[in-house]
Amino acid sequence: MRRYRTDVLVIGSGLSGLYAALLLAERGLRVVVATKENIEVSNSHVAQGGIATVMDSGADSFQKHRDDTLAAGDGLNRPAVVDFFVRNGPAVIEDLAALGVSFTRHEDGSFDLGREGGHTARRVVHADDITGTEIISALKSRVLADRRIEIWQHHMAVDLITTRKFNLSEENRVVGAYVLSHEGIVVTVEADAVLIATGGCGKVYLYTSNPDVATGDGIAMGYRAGVPVENMEMVQFHPTILYHEKVRSMLISEALRGEGGILKTRDGRTFMEHYHPMKSLAPRDVTARAIDRELKKRGDDYVLLDMTMLDPDFIVHRFPNIFKRCLDAGIDMRREPIPVVPAAHYLCGGLQSTPEGRTCLPGLFVAGEAAHTGLHGANRLASNSLLEAAVMARYAAEEIASWLRGSRRPHHPLPLWSEEGVSDSDEQVVVKQNWDEIRHCMWNYVGIARSDRRLERALKRISLIRQEIAEYYWNFRVTRDLLELRNLALVAELIVRSAIMRRESRGLHYTIDHPAKEPEAKDTVITAGVVVS
Ligand code: SIN
Repeated sequence: MRRYRTDVLVIGSGLSGLYAALLLAERGLRVVVATKENIEVSNSHVAQGGIATVMDSGADSFQKHRDDTLAAGDGLNRPAVVDFFVRNGPAVIEDLAALGVSFTRHEDGSFDLGREGGHTARRVVHADDITGTEIISALKSRVLADRRIEIWQHHMAVDLITTRKFNLSEENRVVGAYVLSHEGIVVTVEADAVLIATGGCGKVYLYTSNPDVATGDGIAMGYRAGVPVENMEMVQFHPTILYHEKVRSMLISEALRGEGGILKTRDGRTFMEHYHPMKSLAPRDVTARAIDRELKKRGDDYVLLDMTMLDPDFIVHRFPNIFKRCLDAGIDMRREPIPVVPAAHYLCGGLQSTPEGRTCLPGLFVAGEAAHTGLHGANRLASNSLLEAAVMARYAAEEIASWLRGSRRPHHPLPLWSEEGVSDSDEQVVVKQNWDEIRHCMWNYVGIARSDRRLERALKRISLIRQEIAEYYWNFRVTRDLLELRNLALVAELIVRSAIMRRESRGLHYTIDHPAKEPEAKDTVITAGVVVS
């Protein structure tokens, strides 16, 4: 099959992709979900904490959730957008529960509410400590049972197809995408609307909590097609990833600190009281930076997260998955503290979008981590990511349906993917070399603490790597590895350029050369075409 037609192409199978697909199908639309791995592999799937939502109107309020989100975001959030997401939280929780997501509840049926960094109230709706897995498993069963939805696993989108690219009409709009199948064939998918739900780009960094699929594909494709990116320098480093010789990328949820876990240096001393009044429950930017500082000061490789003062039965009951995985790694968290380090976790910036998922390019929509709506500002509040993904999916489905009512494109076949003049690569080492270089460079020069000189160095290196990739890309048959590398490199450059543009320290962007905050908070925006893509 080299050509396929559908109403909506959804790229990505995390919470926003699957949830939107269901809601689109409910509206009678035919949907293809293209996902480059198995349906389960996504950042949403590995989310542990939960969904921040006001469910206890006695102890909590929308105003409090809004204030905590704004405080964490360090002045860069858009207050009206924060309001929109906070107020829509309860409805999506009820909807997800109705779709079969089994959140942890008390005997009376009320939700068990967890707490995480930066929250002044208990408001994290969760499913034990495997919230993402539970959500994806429920949505997956629904999606697989719906005949209007086709799931294309092991299919990776190559690029969006725009009318401008092929001079198809005056108005530039998205009319589909090229998608690389698992058999190595590039399929021309003709779609009236495309939803990017590809998640973030943690793999840009050497150390990350993200699964291997997080290579910023949707952000890169959207930018290449003409959508500006915003605040790409705002990369969140999660403070507590397991430090272990053999276990990679294992998140130790912030919910542990929400239940009383305390950060300590290797010699057993607490340190967070020197950095923030909320101590171990400070917002993530402050906590990750504090840990980074302590590690550098002491020359240690990790700090400790101590849970040993808590009731051992409570630990096993509340965190069954983390407890088991730590035990498998040789750490009994009931009796000994867990060694942890910060690692890249979440991109607060992304493709410029309305909270309802509309981009400036007609026919192109975005939801979840790939989008920048203004909810997170300079630092995302814990568990606001699944909230954003779910609320955006709901509204994006509505937007797409109403857009399609007015804007079906005239149907004429789109050009097939051309492989003229390309051959199979015999130099896979080029991909591996560049992949490793980007990730090391970003970790060392564009990490938790930045400087003008480091950023300039990073820009030089990434630009050179991108030139090499471009030559390679046009000469050889595309493979998933090559596509990921191309996307990763573009996203890396967008992060570096945005970091250079921000000449202040705010939220997640801390630079030793500009330690103060500018009086006015401004978004960094890179319009399409500024970075050659
Ligand atoms: C966590 O459980 O700590 C991660 C949740 C999040 O990233 O908000």
